Amino acid sequence: MFGIRHAFRSLLSPHRNRLPRLIISTIIVLLFLTSLVEYHTGTIQRSTLPWFETDYDVPVTNEDERVLPKPPQPPSSPVWAERAEKVKQAFVHAYDGYWKYAAPHDELQPLSNRSRDNFNGWGVTAIDSLDTMLLMGLDDLYIKSLEIVKSLNFKEESPNKNGGYIANYNVMFFETVIRYLGGFLAAYAITNDQLLLQKADELAEALNPAFETKSGLPMFSLNIVTGKAYTASSGSLAEIASCQMEWAYLAHLTGKKAHYDKATNIQRILTTANISTIGMLPNRWDLTTSLPWDDRLSLGAGADSAHEYILKYYLLTGRTDPASLDLYLRTTDHILTNLLYLTPERSLLYITDVWSIEPKASHKLEHLSCFLPGLFALGIHSLPKSAFTNDRASTLPRHDLLKSYALYDLHLWAATGLGETCWLMYADQINGLGTEEVTMNYQPSERTHPKDWHVKGGHWINAVEEWRVSGVGGVPPGVEEKLPVKEDDPLKRDYKIRRKEYFLRPETVESMYMLWKATGDVKWRERGWAMFEAMEKHTKVDSGYAILEDAVISPPKKRDEMMSFFLAETLKYLYLLFKDDDPISLDKYVFNTEAHPFPIFSWSPTERRKFNIP
Ligand SMILES: *[C@@H]1O[C@H](CO)[C@@H](O)[C@H](O)[C@H]1NC(C)=O
Ligand SMILES: *[C@@H]1O[C@H](CO)[C@@H](O)[C@H](O)[C@H]1NC(C)=O
Repeated sequence: MFGIRHAFRSLLSPHRNRLPRLIISTIIVLLFLTSLVEYHTGTIQRSTLPWFETDYDVPVTNEDERVLPKPPQPPSSPVWAERAEKVKQAFVHAYDGYWKYAAPHDELQPLSNRSRDNFNGWGVTAIDSLDTMLLMGLDDLYIKSLEIVKSLNFKEESPNKNGGYIANYNVMFFETVIRYLGGFLAAYAITNDQLLLQKADELAEALNPAFETKSGLPMFSLNIVTGKAYTASSGSLAEIASCQMEWAYLAHLTGKKAHYDKATNIQRILTTANISTIGMLPNRWDLTTSLPWDDRLSLGAGADSAHEYILKYYLLTGRTDPASLDLYLRTTDHILTNLLYLTPERSLLYITDVWSIEPKASHKLEHLSCFLPGLFALGIHSLPKSAFTNDRASTLPRHDLLKSYALYDLHLWAATGLGETCWLMYADQINGLGTEEVTMNYQPSERTHPKDWHVKGGHWINAVEEWRVSGVGGVPPGVEEKLPVKEDDPLKRDYKIRRKEYFLRPETVESMYMLWKATGDVKWRERGWAMFEAMEKHTKVDSGYAILEDAVISPPKKRDEMMSFFLAETLKYLYLLFKDDDPISLDKYVFNTEAHPFPIFSWSPTERRKFNIP
């Protein structure tokens, strides 16, 4: 750029001998223009990345209203760029193994160098990874992977290519949406390559029969060749309510009202559901009546991503639907007061499953639930302070306690304390890798009748209230920093390991990333790095990365699987955690639950008219 600016200055200078300078300057300008043309005619056009231009007015958070000061400039230490580079190398290692031994099948089996077709046989690892390759600048890998995209025909009956099963007749709606549809859409958002939009729309149309229930809530699976869905009377929350972002963004891209209607129907059912006695959206739903089916409340398997999509749908569609924000706040009110607990010894803050009508808690903490600190952090980062209103009427247990606090303080404390626990679930272990599930210790209060132990012993909000009333100041219980306990002693650790596997899952690094973005505290980055180093040490094999069957023995026991979400999510969030420049700003993009970023948009006046948006 210096050369160009200098050249222009010379052109304008009246005092020089102009001709030779004019010639040199012209050559420089021409060279620059040529390079621009080359860039734009290259195979991959990054038309929207990283500075997505939108035609519409995207409401952005008012800077003055931010809950937290803007994160400090990331430390300029070159160590972070090196770490991002290491993650990129890990991705290349994993993808090379997949490509060599498994493509175009779904997933690599990294110990036997075989492949399996466990997600429809359409090459899920390739499709799920397209946007990660683009973000990492791995254009060669991306271009060769497009061959798989081109070959896909979703409605075609495919022969069983691999001795495994091929599932065109048994397509799991939820997994197919978040991995494939999300993968196409995010890669489209980055490249504007029509092929990807076309595949996304074809896939959505092929999946549409799943919505043919009385309620319009999607069914678990369908035969995509015949278009016949398998009927079931109820569906799990995550499976019926983790597709609204995909269908809304696709409606925005294609102008199809039918797509919009599917997304908004689900959102309407959720936001208008009568949960006044349960407190939040329960795990199972009636696919005929669209009413809640049970009273189990969870942020783990079967429920998790639906709670994400409440806030993320609101953010993605330009914050124009207050009902979604209201549902997010009602939900988090209930999480803060009824689903968060504290262990007796170490004061570990954790999220668990509860039953609402005859109250009890499981005291299990799932790795899957460790997305929650990240969701709280995303809310803090994205919503203005004024959004954290605290005037919702409720007769639910402990909701009245919220009134003594600024609600955003509680959100920040929950994000931080849960992030601490989810990190410790890794840091405590001998191999530095967190397990699939633990059971937390809990201690009933002495005043509590034994029958109610599960209910009253250890609610976090009660401990916070005691802390507030005592006036001791400092950090609220559960939020303080703690040291890892390496000794495998359930009393010292305050939990027992319930499931020993480590599946290379993304939730904890996702939360480290969101917490880093929301708070600017470099400790989240350092913790993410420690997790990555442990993955390198204990899961890397010659042709990829293998999940662990037993993550708590030394050396750990590996299993012959490498899931696509390791490339789509785990490595992407790690890469973004260490990148100083921010290719995917949280002010401009929203990640779907498989870490596929969609650009934030607002409905245009034309769309409002056409889709009948109030
Ligand atoms: C799998 O491939 C790697 C090289 O990519 C090789 O080192 C390893 O021995 C192979 N494993 C088997 C079981 O063939
Ligand atoms: C919601 O459900 C509860 C319990 O089933 C019932 O008592 C209440 O009247 C319902 N509220 C509305 C607005 O339908």
